[in-house]
Amino acid sequence: IPAVVAVDGPAAAGKTTTCLALAQRFGLSYLESGRTYRIIALEALRRRVSTSDRQEIVILCDDLIRESRDQDLLTSGRYGNEDLRSPAVNVAVSDVARIGEVRERVTHLVRLWAAGQERCIVEGRDIGTVVFPEALVKFYLSASAEVRARRRVDQERRGSYEDVLKDVIRRDEADMSRTVSPLVPADDAINIDTTSLTLKEVLGRMSSACAA
Ligand code: CDP
Repeated sequence: IPAVVAVDGPAAAGKTTTCLALAQRFGLSYLESGRTYRIIALEALRRRVSTSDRQEIVILCDDLIRESRDQDLLTSGRYGNEDLRSPAVNVAVSDVARIGEVRERVTHLVRLWAAGQERCIVEGRDIGTVVFPEALVKFYLSASAEVRARRRVDQERRGSYEDVLKDVIRRDEADMSRTVSPLVPADDAINIDTTSLTLKEVLGRMSSACAA
């Protein structure tokens, strides 16, 4: 098993579920980098900092890092999924993730965390391309927007299929079109289109790649 396993892909492609399973199977520490972007977005909403004000968001980001003594921002249990995955945060997080200075800070925090782990699996949008380009095993999970929206609705039981589909498509577009670290598969990533695969099949492919 390599030191870092990178898992990237668009919204609701099954990254979290597969990462947790692989983490358990291979004894890897797991980090969800999207959570950090979500925490920054949630705090911006709570503190009424406009997410379109780049400078203010960068200042907020530095405040949060200082307040949380670095790595807490990544792993803090102070935030619940109910808050972090609200429709308002889904919208705000796309703005926050577009800011290069924010991405630099999150990237730094993730690398710091990984340096303290023996082996880890990290999920996000830019893990194999930007955060750990040297990772030996990289996965890029994708699926049709319709299938991803359906899975997200079944899993979260929040919002209608139509609304979730719209959000998934909007975030895909935001992730793929931003100028800094747009969402693309790394050249050396193993691409898995999970549209017509079962979770077991996806895990089978990922496990053999990790064990090889
Ligand atoms: O779970 P889901 O796929 O819906 O999203 P997430 O992984 O929680 O990420 C939330 C948002 O953070 C995404 O819509 C991305 O725009 C952003 N993100 C990012 O830009 N880079 C990362 N490494 C991880 C997340």
